[in-house]
Amino acid sequence: MGIGQEVVERCRRLATHSEEPGVITRTFLSEPMHCVHADMRAWMEQAGMSVQVDPAGNLRGYYDGARPDAPKLIVGSHLDTVPHAGAFDGILGVVLGVALVKALGGRRLGFGIEIVGFSEEEGVRFGFPFIGSHALMGSLDDVMLARRDVHGVSVADAIRAFGLDPAAIGDARACGATLGYLEFHIEQGPVLESLNIPLGVVTSIAGQSRLEVRFDGKANHAGTTPMNLRRDALAGAAEWIGAVERVAATVPSLVATVGKIETQPGAGNVIAGSVRMSLDVRHTKDDVRAGAVKHLLDSAQEIAARRALTASSELRLDQAAVAMDARLIEMLGCAVRDGGYPEHRMHSGAGHDAMVMAERVPAVMLFLRSPGGLSHHPDEAVLESDVAAALATGLNFIEQLERVNG
Ligand code: GLV
Ligand code: MN
Ligand code: MN
Repeated sequence: MGIGQEVVERCRRLATHSEEPGVITRTFLSEPMHCVHADMRAWMEQAGMSVQVDPAGNLRGYYDGARPDAPKLIVGSHLDTVPHAGAFDGILGVVLGVALVKALGGRRLGFGIEIVGFSEEEGVRFGFPFIGSHALMGSLDDVMLARRDVHGVSVADAIRAFGLDPAAIGDARACGATLGYLEFHIEQGPVLESLNIPLGVVTSIAGQSRLEVRFDGKANHAGTTPMNLRRDALAGAAEWIGAVERVAATVPSLVATVGKIETQPGAGNVIAGSVRMSLDVRHTKDDVRAGAVKHLLDSAQEIAARRALTASSELRLDQAAVAMDARLIEMLGCAVRDGGYPEHRMHSGAGHDAMVMAERVPAVMLFLRSPGGLSHHPDEAVLESDVAAALATGLNFIEQLERVNG
C-alpha cells in the first residue's frame, strides 16, 4: 500500500470513532476518544515511539533522538472534531506525523520528535478552543478549567471522567528544549485547488473572537399576544443575525458567523423568551476584528432597545492573529521546492493549534489542498498524492533541521 493511501485509510478508520452513529462528531474527551487513542497508540508504538496521555488528554508519542539530552521537534494537530465533521481536519496532521516517524525507519537524529494529538482545538463543547495546546504551553488556567458545557460539566470534570487528573495539568507542559512546531493540515479552503498545486506554506493565521450573545424578552402565548405587545427575543435575534451578515460583507476580508442558536422555551406556540447565540468574528488585523465586534455588539444593543428586549454578551475567546516563524517558513518553503513542488505561501483563515504553540515555540504549518475547498463537512477530503507530497516535504524539512542540529 502506498503511504498516501495508508494515511487516508487510517484517517477514515479514526472517523468511525464517533459520538453519533453515521456521522463524525467527537468533542473534548468524549467516550470515542479512548478508541482514537488506542488506534493511534498502536501506530505510534509500531513506528518506534513511546506513548502517553497527558493530564489534558493530549496523546503524545515520543521518538528519541540520538542523544538523551537532544532537543525535540514537535509535530501535531488535533483529534477532536466539529459536529458532523469530515475525516481529515486535525486528524490528518497527527496521522501524517506518525507516518513521518515511520518513514525514518528507526534512524536516530540529532533531535527527538514528539507527535502530539491535541485533545481539543475546535471549541465546540465549551465554547472556547485550544484546550490541548494551552495545556502544552502551560497556559490552561483555572478559569478555563472551570468553564462548563451545556450540561453543566466543567473542563476539569470532563478530564476526571476520562480517567485523568486535572490537578496534575501542569505536568502536560512541554519541557526540554524545543526546536520548533510543525503542523500538517488540510487547507480547508479553495485557494490551492484553484492554483492547481498540492501544498501551501502558511505565513500567518487570522485572529478570532468568539462570543456568546443573548437576547432576553418575555415568553408568552403565540395565539393571544398581539404583534405590537410582544417582546419576542427570537425576532430580535433574527434582525441582529441579518445585521451580522451585512456588516461583515462591507469590511474587506472580515468574516462573521452566527453558527449556533438556542431558544427558550423552544415551542412552536410560545413566543421565544430568550435566545443564546454564538458569534465568531475573524480578520488578519486585530484592530479591524476588535472594531467589528464592537460594532456588532452596539448593533445588538440598538435592536434590543427598540424591541424592549435586553442584549448581553460573554467573550469566550480573543485570539490575536499570529505570524509563523520566519526561519521555519524559509526552511519549509525550501523543503517543498526540494521535493519538486511549487512553493506557495499563504495565510490561514482557520484557527489552528499552531496559533497557541507560536506564543512560546517557533511554529510553521504546511497546508494540503482541500478538494472542493470543503471542510467542517462530511465530504471533506484529501488526495493521496498530496499526502505523499506532504510527507516528502516533511522528510526534507527534517533533513534541513538535521543539518543544523545533527
Ligand atoms: C477551527 O477549525 C476553526 O474554527 O478555525
Ligand atoms: Mn483543524
Ligand atoms: Mn476545524
